[in-house]
Amino acid sequence: MSTVSRLKTETFLRNVEIHEELGSTNDRAIELSHADVAPELPLLIWARRQTAGRGRGANRWWAMDGALTFTVMLDANQLDLPRERWSLMSLAVGLAVSAAIQDLIPHAEIGVKWPNDVYLFGRKVCGILVEVPSIQAGRIIVGIGINVNNSASLADRDLQQKATALCDISVREWKLELVLLQVLKQLELHLQRLVHQDPTLPEAWDQQCFLRSKVVTHVIGDRKVKGICQGVGPDGALLLLTDAGLVRLFGGVIESWE
Ligand code: BTN
Repeated sequence: MSTVSRLKTETFLRNVEIHEELGSTNDRAIELSHADVAPELPLLIWARRQTAGRGRGANRWWAMDGALTFTVMLDANQLDLPRERWSLMSLAVGLAVSAAIQDLIPHAEIGVKWPNDVYLFGRKVCGILVEVPSIQAGRIIVGIGINVNNSASLADRDLQQKATALCDISVREWKLELVLLQVLKQLELHLQRLVHQDPTLPEAWDQQCFLRSKVVTHVIGDRKVKGICQGVGPDGALLLLTDAGLVRLFGGVIESWE
C-alpha cells in the first residue's frame, strides 16, 4: 500500500500532501487556506525536508534531513471544538506527541514544556506551532517538528546541549512513516479528549509538566515574572509561585528555567 493510502486508511486524515522539500509546512497550509477551492480536511502536509521552518515568535526550527516535519490542518466546526478551547490545542498536541514517543520508546522520560514543546530526558525533541489563518473561519493549523533521525550531535554546539532526537535515545534508523502514523493516531485520540472535555486531559498536562518545581522566568511584552512552577492549570495557565503569590500566566514565552 502506498504511504498516502496508508495515511488515509489508518488515520483520521481525509487528505494528504507529501513534498520532497518545502519552506514551511505551516506556510503551505496558510497558502491553501487562501485558495479559492477549500481543501478537504483534515489535511496532512508532510515535507521530507523543510528549509524555512518557523517556531513560536522569532524562533526558527532547526532544519536537517531526518527530522519529521508536518502540519495538520483541522476544521474546528467539523471537530465540534468551540473557540474557547482552541488555546488548549498546543498542550493537547504536546500530550499526543508525548504518548506516541512513549509507545515507541517505553523507557522514555518525557515532559511537556508549557505551552508547546516536548522534552525527552531533559532535552527538546519536539516543537509545536499552532496557528489560526486570518481567513476561512474555523481552520486550525497544527505544525509539528520532531527530531527523529537527525541526531543532536550534528547540530550547532549550543543546540547540542539542549536538543535530542529519537535516534539519540534508541540508536537506530527510525522509519519516519511509522513515527508519523503513531503521532497521528495519538493526535486523533487527544483531539477527541479535548472535544469531549475529558477531565483526565488537564490532569495529564499538569502531571507531565516539564517545568514543575523549576525556577522559571516568563516574559510577556515588557512584563517579566519569575517564580517556582506549580504546574499547568485546567484552563492551560502556567502557574508560578512568586514573592507576590500564585500567578496564572497565559501567552508569552519562557525566557529561562533552572
Ligand atoms: C517551536 O519550537 O517554537 C515550534 C517549532 C515548530 C516546528 C514545526 S516543523 C513543521 C511545522 N512547520 C513550520 O514551519 N513549523 C512547524
